[in-house]
Amino acid sequence: MLVIFPYLIFGVVQLITIIIYLIMLNWVLLITICIIVAISLVLPKLIEKPLQKANKLISTSNEIYLDTLNDWLRGLDQLRQFAAGAKLFSVTQNASKKLEDATVKQTTYTKLLNAINGIASALFGLIIFVLTGFLVKNGLVQMSTLLIVGNFRFYLNQAINEISQARGEMKGVKSLIEEVNEAAEKVQVSDKQKTNMPTVIKTESLRLDFPNGEKLSYPDIQINQGEKILLTGDSGTGKSTLFKLILGELAPSAGKIIFEDKDGNEINPDLKTIGYLPQDPVIFPASIKENITMFNNKLDNKVERSVEEVDLSSDLQKFDEGINKKLNLDKLNISGGQRQKIVLARAQVHDSDIILIDEGTSAIDQSETIDILDKLLKSKATIVFIAHNFTEEMHELFYREIHLIKTNIN
Ligand SMILES: Nc1ncnc2c1ncn2[C@@H]1O[C@H](COP(=O)(O)OP(=O)(O)OP(=O)(O)O)[C@@H](O)[C@H]1O
Ligand SMILES: [Mg+2]
Repeated sequence: MLVIFPYLIFGVVQLITIIIYLIMLNWVLLITICIIVAISLVLPKLIEKPLQKANKLISTSNEIYLDTLNDWLRGLDQLRQFAAGAKLFSVTQNASKKLEDATVKQTTYTKLLNAINGIASALFGLIIFVLTGFLVKNGLVQMSTLLIVGNFRFYLNQAINEISQARGEMKGVKSLIEEVNEAAEKVQVSDKQKTNMPTVIKTESLRLDFPNGEKLSYPDIQINQGEKILLTGDSGTGKSTLFKLILGELAPSAGKIIFEDKDGNEINPDLKTIGYLPQDPVIFPASIKENITMFNNKLDNKVERSVEEVDLSSDLQKFDEGINKKLNLDKLNISGGQRQKIVLARAQVHDSDIILIDEGTSAIDQSETIDILDKLLKSKATIVFIAHNFTEEMHELFYREIHLIKTNIN
């Protein structure tokens, strides 16, 4: 504040001095110069509002762009699994286009502002020059005034600017602080050969050591085609981790996972085609329908049936837009159970031969869960379902159960 004060005093003194000089020179000149300075101060204000708006637009567009990246990159694995990379590309491209448009708009306004200032300055210079020439001709001022009069306009302008700037800074300058926290991972492209889905999945002496010293070891497991297996075990026994190992998201520290075709030959399947519903399912800021089809409109005709099968129909009736209801990730406008149903329907419409479901119904009530399981388990796909706290009745819906126990290994 103290630093600004001398500028304010300097500005005021300069202003008073110039006015005194001009009064001494000629009244007409004083009034003309004052009018010209007033106009040149007001002119930029006309364009200032749209310029401010354009600046604000850049900041909001930037925010939207970062939010979009955040919402969509969170589901990168899912987008890869359902080959919906094109959608990711189009939404991020759309958001970045908006940001680009906002920048273009702002640049245009800045250029316009500079042009207006430039034209006005040249025009006013000419007016003062002609007026002074007229006054000299009529003997109202001396010839030398012609040389110095332009400077008065400049100093007057400077003085007013200095005063208003100092005042503005005293009031406190508002600044827009933008946070850029984008951390986009690189998508790794697998070069594995695509082969048929396996008929059998086996694990052999499977073991995983985490860098923090935590170790998991698994019994040898075999999953046969079409089986409906319930995978249980206390929290932390490695159920979710087993899925990640099968999906190739984690590499075993010892032992291996074997995929076999119907003739018992070991194969190298495209693991992305395994249907996987993670414990914390990812949904996208798009319609319920798009979240089910994962933006593949060739699957639209299957949506209705899958919605029935996962008991989502009654939930959809609550929304005016029904299946076209757009999901809002910030103010989550659906329940945890509805979210799980959407993801279950997603697995259904994609017709995978193998589906791994991690706690897919934990937020859905018991009677509805039984209903959903009843329909889901009728499919011919191989299904492995992780669940906690299932009742005897629910257990019986499955072909068999694999129960994991925590083993302490060193
Ligand atoms: N990235 C990791 N780093 C270190 N330890 C991990 C990591 N991921 C999992 N673990 C550990 O591995 C163990 C098994 O985790 P996992 O998520 O597979 O358990 P879970 O059986 O699915 O449990 P829950 O029923 O609670 O979901 C846990 O003790 C966990 O702390
Ligand atoms: Mg788990």
